[in-house]
Amino acid sequence: MALLGASKHRPTKEHNCIVGAVSRSVEPPLNMSPRKKLIVTGANGFVAGSILAQGADAWEIHAVSRGTGPDPQGEWKAHSLDSLARDPWAELFRDVRPAAVIHTAALADIDYCEAHPDLAREVNFGLTRTLANLCAEHGARLVHCSTDTIFDGEHAPYREQDPPGPVNVYAHTKVAAEHAVLDASAGHVVARLAVIVGLPVLGVGNSFVARMLASLEAGRVVTVPEAEIRTPIDVVTLGKALMELASNEATSGVFHLAGNDRLNRLELARRIAVFFGHDPAGVVGIDPTTLPGRAARPRDVSMDNAKARAHLGTPMVGLDAALTSIRQTSQRRRP
Ligand SMILES: NC(=O)c1ccc[n+]([C@@H]2O[C@H](COP(=O)([O-])OP(=O)(O)OC[C@H]3O[C@@H](n4cnc5c(N)ncnc54)[C@H](OP(=O)(O)O)[C@@H]3O)[C@@H](O)[C@H]2O)c1
Repeated sequence: MALLGASKHRPTKEHNCIVGAVSRSVEPPLNMSPRKKLIVTGANGFVAGSILAQGADAWEIHAVSRGTGPDPQGEWKAHSLDSLARDPWAELFRDVRPAAVIHTAALADIDYCEAHPDLAREVNFGLTRTLANLCAEHGARLVHCSTDTIFDGEHAPYREQDPPGPVNVYAHTKVAAEHAVLDASAGHVVARLAVIVGLPVLGVGNSFVARMLASLEAGRVVTVPEAEIRTPIDVVTLGKALMELASNEATSGVFHLAGNDRLNRLELARRIAVFFGHDPAGVVGIDPTTLPGRAARPRDVSMDNAKARAHLGTPMVGLDAALTSIRQTSQRRRP
């Protein structure tokens, strides 16, 4: 673990592995109860960015990145930890004593995982198992980000109790991780995320919408696999739902975090193009099996979100509301 560089925001208190760059007081005002501590892994990522941008009022957030992570601007504490070994994570847990952990860090590029199966397993399964066990030992609640693509794609819509049927290395590593999380504690949560639409809330992360809009703006044609059917969720709603799962001790086990609309990726991309003022003709469907080096994908991994709608205060939304939300957030987001 390393101390990150100091900034004009000096911390009021430092732990030995905690970064400068903190101006928010660690101590709450006398009339307020202390904010609970939340560790967020994969701080530079797309999903983590949404949590960091939305969570600091409710949580004392400790954002962990292999590198420097996004600039906390006084909103959270940044930790640099570039290791898959247990010891540095155990030290972090001893320092922070989190009430909850939202684990977003992963090798999430499906084709990269297919080409690097050992690393994919080490990161997606090994690190998750370590965190699940550390959370159980410290009485912290783990919310682990899994994926709709653990399913085989031939029996949609999928409910939480349906059996996984992984068709690629990434999905195999995520299934193994789910087992590790649920075995470690009955209080842990596996959140299976549908494909995520959004613009990077903190200007970082793996957003296909951002890449697609950049291509359309540059006048390039965007190609999209036509046959893959999904129930997309927006990154803003997702961030809220993950934090709710982290805080609500009445919820545990598996949750499907998915939008209310089911559509194929070509329809999805064209709806996004139109919403952001582009000609949908700039988006064309392709048969992805013709692409060299592309790992297998499940065809239809639509998820039934009834459990999330029944148990969460965060509403699951349809695509129009999702796109409105991400546009509003991108207009407010920091430079
Ligand atoms: N995006 C989607 O549509 C989608 C759909 C379903 C499920 N998910 C799941 O949701 C979670 C978050 O996805 P995301 O879209 O936010 O992914 P992302 O933007 O790629 O972020 C993942 C983060 O993980 C960390 N990371 C990357 N490689 C790593 C490695 N070798 N060792 C340790 N950490 C590493 C990085 O954070 P640092 O650079 O800060 O270390 C990276 O920014 C993942 O578990 C993913 O599997 C995503």
